[in-house]
Amino acid sequence: MNKAQQEAYLREYSQAKKEGKSFFPYAIYKDHIVAILAFGWIIGMAIWHKVEIGKPVYAATTDFVPRPEWYFFFLFELLKIFKGQNALMPVIMATFIVPNVLMVLLLLTPFIDRGPERRISRRPIALATAVVVFASLAWLTHKGATSEAPTGEGPAIQNLTPEAEAGYVLFQDNACLSCHKLGGSGGVLGPDLSNEGSKAHGVQWHIDHLKNPQAVSPGSAMPAYAGFTDEEYQNLGTFLDGLGTKWKAG
Ligand code: HEC
Repeated sequence: MNKAQQEAYLREYSQAKKEGKSFFPYAIYKDHIVAILAFGWIIGMAIWHKVEIGKPVYAATTDFVPRPEWYFFFLFELLKIFKGQNALMPVIMATFIVPNVLMVLLLLTPFIDRGPERRISRRPIALATAVVVFASLAWLTHKGATSEAPTGEGPAIQNLTPEAEAGYVLFQDNACLSCHKLGGSGGVLGPDLSNEGSKAHGVQWHIDHLKNPQAVSPGSAMPAYAGFTDEEYQNLGTFLDGLGTKWKAG
């Protein structure tokens, strides 16, 4: 700001202060009007879109695949970019390191950019940075919105025996797909099970593994499934033991 600009600003400011309105009641009155309009808008949209209250929370569910609200899709996608071997790394990178680095850069902006110019057209670096950040957010949000949500539903599998069919239903109902791939779809925390049968573990091995994964696979990160009946273990074990050999996903 040069001297003339500064004087002009101070002149305008003192003028406004002389003629201006007080905070109470004028500013508060205006704030209330805007707040009421905003609430009215939200209520109106909720009625217009016929928003429904979801199912009551059931904390013990195992087949719910969590998806964030749309305004967190960018973070959700960021997590996927950093997904590697380690389950913790994407969380640390995407929810702590990247946002905090950006936040610190934002706080440092007045110290980094000391130029007096305020017109955005004369500040190419600031403009480019803002465009890149917003474009990345928009792109990640779009990717998050259009990425296929993992569901409990698996691919079609041919030639299942009735026993294995019952096992496949259990497999889908217990969200095994949130960690395991089957014929191309599913999670990545555990190994792809499309050809599990070729390992020829045997049904009993699978039952032991399900009851206590760590007992047969030391250090396993798979949760134990201790609540099935003997028949259910048998069905699920039969299903797993034939995957890729007796029946194929795809
Ligand atoms: C939280 C993630 C997770 C879930 C949910 C999960 N698993 Fe696993 N699973 C793993 C991991 C990690 C491994 C690799 C370590 C191991 O073998 O135990 C694994 C391994 C396996 C193996 C391969 C064992 C081998 O070495 O051949 C089978 C079969 C299996 N899981 C079946 C299931 C079934 C069936 C379900 C659902 C009832 C299920 N998993 C649910 C994480 C998971």
